[in-house]
Amino acid sequence: MKIVVFGSINMDLTAYVPKLPLPGETLLGASYITVPGGKGNNQAVASARLGAQVLFVGRVGDDIFGKQVLKIVAAEHVDVSQVAVDKEKGTGLAVISVDQNAENAITVISGANWALDASDVARTEKCLDGAKALLLQLEVPMEASLQIAEIAKQKGVKVIFDPAPAVPLPERAYHGIDFITPNETETEILVGLRPQNEKEAAEAASILHQRGVENVIIKMGSKGVYYDTVDSRGFIKPYKVKSIDSVAAGDAFNAGLAVAISEGLPIAEAVRWGAAAGAIATTRKGALPAMPYREELLKLISEQQ
Ligand code: RIB
Repeated sequence: MKIVVFGSINMDLTAYVPKLPLPGETLLGASYITVPGGKGNNQAVASARLGAQVLFVGRVGDDIFGKQVLKIVAAEHVDVSQVAVDKEKGTGLAVISVDQNAENAITVISGANWALDASDVARTEKCLDGAKALLLQLEVPMEASLQIAEIAKQKGVKVIFDPAPAVPLPERAYHGIDFITPNETETEILVGLRPQNEKEAAEAASILHQRGVENVIIKMGSKGVYYDTVDSRGFIKPYKVKSIDSVAAGDAFNAGLAVAISEGLPIAEAVRWGAAAGAIATTRKGALPAMPYREELLKLISEQQ
């Protein structure tokens, strides 16, 4: 079952700190890691670990980080043949702090990710045959994402759009996608309401429906997940795990959702896959290394029905 991911790939430099720094503050951290990340890449690797055949389309720079991330991602059985090497921009870099409550703050230097354009869209279009889902995020230019979304939707490929990092979306965006999956802060940027519970998430979802997207899934982290789709509507409580690092949990969620939808599972079950994938990602450090495997996801779902 084939999934195409169009999006960002970064090198993540993650520092583990007692608390997130205040403006002007210098903190002494405990440790750091340097691992591949980027929302697109994380979704690609998680989808592959969960059982999909994954093609990733993106850009890296002609530099040491680009070579390192591609080698590691290829070893995860992600097809990186359509990742272009940009001669002008460097590989994307994310500078991340993670505190003792597993919360994070991220600064992204987009580099080559921000150079994705019509040529990348054309390359992706040629690869969509046979794909069940296209995963998009917002760490690459919006125009390129919307172009490929519209092409994929016309071809019947399910477009799962993660509005992260969030910016207000043009009306066209809501019509060109099948699923939108904001978290609480992204929901607030999109609709002006930060949902804290099922009722508030339902309100936000109805605004998003009115804008033209049929399937809305609102990820509220430790407060659960609300979904309101063409097929069904409901709320899923969070899985109980020992969280140490929430980086890329949202990416893991989208991969779990996409793999389950691509396998034809009912939407409630697909949302459970997303929630379980996100929960597992919080139990390990870093972005790519934390992405969930299929066996552990199925185990968590069967243990906590
Ligand atoms: O969603 C987590 C990701 O956001 C990190 O891997 C980092 O690269 C940033 O893109």
